[in-house]
Amino acid sequence: MTDTNIESILHENRSFPPPQDFAAKARITPAELAALATEAQRDNVGFWTRLAREELSWHTKFKQALDDSQAPNYRWFADGILNASYNCLDVHLAANGDKPAIIFEGEPGDSHTLTYRQLTVEVCRFANALKAQGIEPGDRVVIYMPMVPEAIIAMQACARIGATHSVVFGGFSANSLRDRINDASARMVITADGGWRGGKSVELKAAVDAALADSGRSVEKVIVFKRTGEPVAMREGRDLWWSDAVKGQRDRCEPAWVGAEHPLFLLYTSGSTGKPKGIQHSTAGYLLSTKLSSQWVFDLRDDDVFWCTADIGWVTGHSYVCYGPLAAGATIVMYEGAPMYPDGGRFWKICEKLGVTIFYTAPTALRALMKLGNELPAKYDLSKLRLLGSVGEPINPEAWIWYHTVIGKQRCPIVDTWWQTETGAIMASPIPGVTATKPGSCTNPIPGIDMAIVDDEGHVISNPDQGGWLVVRKPWPGMLRTIWGDNARYLSNYWARFGNRYYVAGDTAHQDQDGYFWCLGRADDVLKVSGHRLGTMEIESAFVAHPHVAETAVVSRLHEIKGESIFAFVVCRGTRPTGADADRLAAELREFVGKELGAIAKPDDIRFADNLPKTRSGKIMRRLLRAIARDEEITEDISTLENPAIVEQLRGRT
Ligand code: WT7
Repeated sequence: MTDTNIESILHENRSFPPPQDFAAKARITPAELAALATEAQRDNVGFWTRLAREELSWHTKFKQALDDSQAPNYRWFADGILNASYNCLDVHLAANGDKPAIIFEGEPGDSHTLTYRQLTVEVCRFANALKAQGIEPGDRVVIYMPMVPEAIIAMQACARIGATHSVVFGGFSANSLRDRINDASARMVITADGGWRGGKSVELKAAVDAALADSGRSVEKVIVFKRTGEPVAMREGRDLWWSDAVKGQRDRCEPAWVGAEHPLFLLYTSGSTGKPKGIQHSTAGYLLSTKLSSQWVFDLRDDDVFWCTADIGWVTGHSYVCYGPLAAGATIVMYEGAPMYPDGGRFWKICEKLGVTIFYTAPTALRALMKLGNELPAKYDLSKLRLLGSVGEPINPEAWIWYHTVIGKQRCPIVDTWWQTETGAIMASPIPGVTATKPGSCTNPIPGIDMAIVDDEGHVISNPDQGGWLVVRKPWPGMLRTIWGDNARYLSNYWARFGNRYYVAGDTAHQDQDGYFWCLGRADDVLKVSGHRLGTMEIESAFVAHPHVAETAVVSRLHEIKGESIFAFVVCRGTRPTGADADRLAAELREFVGKELGAIAKPDDIRFADNLPKTRSGKIMRRLLRAIARDEEITEDISTLENPAIVEQLRGRT
């Protein structure tokens, strides 16, 4: 989010009603939406109870819907028993076994399709392989894979045997991988030799080896899928090839029937402290929220080809690649590589080639593609597209209008979906056949979700355009259950601010005179770089691990494509480097931080200073630093600074 975006969003008052053609065939009509909303309003728990009974296939039906006895550790449908992979696969076999489940496109151009039947067989074989390696219900399995169908197979296979997966984004470094393996005490890592990205192979197995070298005593086995064919080291007794692991395994696997609250997965995400948090999701509630939102928001019909471009390493890849659309029986597209490979027309080429009808991506990708001009998308037939989506950060109206006109040809509604790793599924979004859209607004909460904006005292703000905290006032099935191994942090992070009454998202937002929600960005020290969450503390800890760095403060600057980029003020041990020395050290530090955390965390700007501006109580004046990084006027009172001249130095002028 950028301040200029806030400006333009505040003055954005264009409104786009759903295109008539679309509305005429839409899955949810205005009357149906109104009925759902009324039902949810009258009896919220009853609403979710009905849907959980209708939409999920239960081994043992639940009697109790919401258990709030341990609130805010809410539990949903807790005495029910089911299996997530059964709900994503087996339920479709009788009527839709031969329907494509995954259409895969590799970066080099290889492609293949797996029907629901074929996918089920692959999942069962791999599930049996996991069992043969000793994996049991409740064990944690880390998945560190490229975007290939085997990543989904691995996730679904874990779900099938009741193992809890923790997918780590393939762009994270060995160090980040190691921390996540250790925090979850994973027994197994599933990886690949590598994956193709931007014409190069990303060496995943090597990173796993490095991660396990100085720790990872919990990990007993590593299964390696062969994707690139590049040579890798295999450690005797620990590592085995995917193809060997599945050899001779039966193509049926009775699902492990687990309780509704069984942890389906952990997914680590950044917060305001240095340590990433393992967001823990449930089985039934999560599945219900992702399935319903897939159907309501993406208007899924039987013949749709749905492409969510997110990597499975992020929650979007969990909810709208692996679980939601498969639970809904949809056909999904999965693409391995970089959006710009071999050129910026790749996304549009895939849309044409595979007949994509619903396309869901991030504003940062749209801004990068928009910059390349209109000729590239014009080269491809995008006429099958009927619905477009956006997620990850506020979409600036300029990118929205480009998406709408150049990609959607004004035919396709745009669903701007607001949600978080913690919410599990989409919380606010237009319902495409009903809601008039406004560029930059996620419009309204979807049925069953009770969102509000409150002031510092927790009072609901009714005055349009006054900003405040974005909160959710009622528990919902897809919500996180806790932070793995740290329930105290769950309580203090998300609930304590307003005395456990509301779930506190950490975003600021406002509602306009029509009640539409406009998210303005994070209220905490979380950055959104290319739509991905990074904590300032996490980056700062990486910096200070370098022997030359004494202290650092990280803030964000506005970036045309990334939305925000990382700007670090660094105090060195010894004297402040200048000139060529400063350039050299800055380059070294960029690499160092990239190696510590992963390439997405590499700072764009590094500025050296003799010290950092602090308040009397010793707190770093981040707001001041942010203003400096953004070249804004300084409104802070700097008279109390020990050395006010430091400001000129921080500005890079001395
Ligand atoms: C944060 C959550 C949701 C999956 C991907 C990101 C921001 C997300 C929107 C949107 C404005 C958005 C919020 C939120 N955000 N979607 N449509 N409009 N802001 O998941 O990494 O957990 O990040 O992303 O700030 O809190 P995440």
